[in-house]
Amino acid sequence: MAREEWTHYGFREVPLTEKQGMVDDVFHSVAARYDLMNDLMSAGLHRAWKDALVTAVNAPKTDRAFRLLDVAGGTGDISFRVIDSGGPAVTATVVDINENMLAEGKRRAEKDAHARRRDDAIRFVEGNAEALPFPDRHFDAVTIAFGIRNVPRIPLALQEAHRVLRHGGHFLCLEFSSVDVPGLDKLYDLYSFNMIPAMGRAVTGDAEAYRYLVESIRRFPKPDAFAAMMEEAGMRRVTHQRMSGGIVALHSGWRL
Ligand SMILES: C[S@@+](CC[C@H](N)C(=O)[O-])C[C@H]1O[C@@H](n2cnc3c(N)ncnc32)[C@H](O)[C@@H]1O
Repeated sequence: MAREEWTHYGFREVPLTEKQGMVDDVFHSVAARYDLMNDLMSAGLHRAWKDALVTAVNAPKTDRAFRLLDVAGGTGDISFRVIDSGGPAVTATVVDINENMLAEGKRRAEKDAHARRRDDAIRFVEGNAEALPFPDRHFDAVTIAFGIRNVPRIPLALQEAHRVLRHGGHFLCLEFSSVDVPGLDKLYDLYSFNMIPAMGRAVTGDAEAYRYLVESIRRFPKPDAFAAMMEEAGMRRVTHQRMSGGIVALHSGWRL
C-alpha cells in the first residue's frame, strides 16, 4: 500500500487528502460574515493591500478585451475591484471550491449590477485551484488573494495558474507573510493569536476557523521560498514586495 502523504492544517499535521475538506468547513462556516470580518480583522487594511494587487494587474482602461481569472476568489472582492479599475471590455472569472463563498459573491454581483450597468462582466465558477476547469492559455492575468495557503498542493495550483495564462500573461499572488520588524512581530503575534479568534467567535460564532487562519499564515513559506516555487512552476521575472512590515507580500510572475 502506498504511504499516506501528510501536510499541515494550521499547526496540526493531517493526511493530505483530508486538508481540503477541513478548509472547506472553515469557509462554509464563515462565508456570510467573511467580508465584514476582513474589515474588522485588518482594520480596513486589506483594502489597501488589495488596491496594490489591482494596480499591479493594470487592466486596460481602453476598449481592449482583458480576461482576469481570480483563483480562490471567494466573494469576488478582487474581481469587482479589477472590473471597476478598467475599461468596458474587462471581464473576470471567479473560481472557488466553496459554493457558500461563491453564493455571497453572486448576491453582491446582483446588487451591484445596476450600478455597474454590466451584469456580464463577472462570472462565478465552482472549481479547484489544483485542477482549473479552463483551457490552456486563456487568461490575460491570474490572481489569487489570501487563497494559496489554503490549497493542499500549492505546486499544482501554481502549475495550473501558469497553464491557463496566455503567453505574456501576468500572475499575481497576495498572501499573508512574515513580519520582520522588531517589536511589531510580538505585537502582531499577540494580536493574531488572541484577538482574531475572539473576534471570529463574536462575529461568526466560530473561533476555531479563525485560529486555523492565523496558524496557516505562520506555516506559509517565506517570500523567497514562495518565489522559488513560482519559478519551479514556470513563472518568469518573479519579484515580490512586502507590505505593512511584512504582514502581507505581493508576488508577481509572468508566463513568457
Ligand atoms: C481567505 S479566502 C480569500 C477570498 C478572496 N480571494 C479574498 O481575497 O477576499 C480563501 C478562499 O480560498 C478558497 N479555496 C480554498 N481551497 C481552494 C481550492 N483548492 N481551490 C479553489 N479555492 C479554494 C476558499 O473557499 C476561500 O473562498
